[in-house]
Amino acid sequence: MCGIVGYTGRRQAAPILLDSLSRLEYRGYDSAGLAVRNGAALAEVVKATGKLYHLADKTDQGRALAGCCGIGHTRWATHGDPSIVNAHPHVSGNCSGSGSGAVESDVVGVHNGIIENYTELKEKLLRHGYVFYSDTDTEVAVKLVDYYYKKYKIGPVDAITRTMVRIRGSYALALMFKDYPDEIFAARKDSPLIIGAEDGEAYLASDVPAILKYTRQVYYIDNLQVARVSPGKALFYDLNGDEVEMPLTEITWDAEAAEKGGFEHFMLKEIHEQPGAVRDTLNSIVKDGWVDLSQTGLTEDAIRSIEQIVIVACGSAWHVGMAAQYVMEDLAGIPVRVELASEFRYRSIPISGGTLVIIISQSGETADSLAALRVAKERGAQTLAIVNVIGSTIAREADHVLYTLAGPEIAVATTKAYSAQLIASDVLAIHMARIREKMTAEEAERLLGELALIPEKISRILEEKERLQWFSSKMANTRDIFFIGRGLDYAISLEGSLKMKEISYIHSEAYAAGELKHGTISLVENNTLIIGVLTQKALYEKTVSNMMECKSRGGYLLGITTNGNFDLEDSVNFTVYIPKTDEHFMASLAVVPLQLLGYYTSVNRGLDVDKPRNLAKSVTVE
Ligand code: M6R
Repeated sequence: MCGIVGYTGRRQAAPILLDSLSRLEYRGYDSAGLAVRNGAALAEVVKATGKLYHLADKTDQGRALAGCCGIGHTRWATHGDPSIVNAHPHVSGNCSGSGSGAVESDVVGVHNGIIENYTELKEKLLRHGYVFYSDTDTEVAVKLVDYYYKKYKIGPVDAITRTMVRIRGSYALALMFKDYPDEIFAARKDSPLIIGAEDGEAYLASDVPAILKYTRQVYYIDNLQVARVSPGKALFYDLNGDEVEMPLTEITWDAEAAEKGGFEHFMLKEIHEQPGAVRDTLNSIVKDGWVDLSQTGLTEDAIRSIEQIVIVACGSAWHVGMAAQYVMEDLAGIPVRVELASEFRYRSIPISGGTLVIIISQSGETADSLAALRVAKERGAQTLAIVNVIGSTIAREADHVLYTLAGPEIAVATTKAYSAQLIASDVLAIHMARIREKMTAEEAERLLGELALIPEKISRILEEKERLQWFSSKMANTRDIFFIGRGLDYAISLEGSLKMKEISYIHSEAYAAGELKHGTISLVENNTLIIGVLTQKALYEKTVSNMMECKSRGGYLLGITTNGNFDLEDSVNFTVYIPKTDEHFMASLAVVPLQLLGYYTSVNRGLDVDKPRNLAKSVTVE
């Protein structure tokens, strides 16, 4: 996965491209590059390894590159290591290998995605005399376009559609042709790409925040379409090369929402945005005290006919599914299984028309989740996507969509999107329970009332964040952490553990508390940190006992429980209290101190909180 951008208009392209790329760094940040051309002159290519500022330095913040048309790229390596030679843009002609300078090339391109059959295509191109400089699949795509362009003497659109028919995999491509100054050609399949056009200027980007500063008028290029972008204008073509009309969409959300707003990191800002994210999501689906899912198109009859629910997702979204499983089964009495998307797509899980497959995804672009959605549809399931990014591929392909209103999430570690997904799944559980007559109207009203109080309770937890900051400073050098809980508390532990490890790089695992004694407890030694989540009354004493088993083997204990369980202080070393709510919704509150613990531990260890190593925000490769 990578970020791509493009600009053509009357201003100098390079500074605009760098600025847009800076908003896409969350998509990858191991190298970056630009190709800019000045009218009919050859394209100038500059690349740099490492974060974007290296490229900005190398080009004097873009001032060293003259020209009003250009493309740019920030990379997350898939084929070939993060190096200058593998950095994009790639060219169809000869290149020096240094990756910089004016390139005598008919086609120059950047790519996001993976070309699965690139080896076979590369062999074909080698037979036709093409020379390859990088290990990337992208160079193959660029050279294949060039091959068709020259062989058939067809224009760029036809050369690209011929290439699209030959390549398998996913891609968002932006290409410049030597013979077409001031124009950028783009194509997409299963990787995000949007085009903005306004007032004599046009922009391309993998995501809206990258160009929001410049335009709010956006086209969502469809799967298997080609776009021809010139100053102020975009034309679209299908695979046959026939022109198609695409609607222009006005983006209404605020560019400020994608900025840090005074917080030290996006993650901390997004943690603090959770009350708003939860409230907005609730307000969009609970109207006048009653659930209104008409926006999703999921009818009451369809809900009545559900025989089983399969929740499919990755990472934190999968953890939301784990929590939702407890809530949906308990409230609505529907059997629920939760599957990792990367596993689901290759298994033969029995699915019928009575199965509702729920795909949960912040980005709506996660490759495994998208593939799982397609598998579910092929097998005849009804599909519902709980998605944050409007217009994303999963949102467009699912039968029904329930949007979370968390706004753009920039930090790689998800926080507000997780909370918005949780609340959406809680509302869905209440709605299904009510429709299937497993719950009275009064009970549904009571539970919806509890949900309405969650934002304010999250704010109260945030007011106590200094205690967690202090605790994190004491444990910054811990080697191993175990997060344990039973039932819903186990689902919360999974998320707490992921938050900790992905940004602090401390080894941590989540365990169902009763399972520790079957092997894992042998890892507990002096000062191993055990974080117990204890929000479920019926399981409270059992989890305390499991924590005590760890303490007697040297473990240092932190307990997270609800206000009033003050006796916990007698057993554990440090206690965190959270407000009470209905037990089904405790995940929404208990996760907040766990997010803060992960955040402050990462800060105390001096790490790059928002862009942890080896990760990217949107995982659009398998
Ligand atoms: O965009 P998605 O919700 O589909 O992403 C799924 C996971 O990649 C994501 O939740 C990931 O685990 C986060 N880094 C967790 O903080």
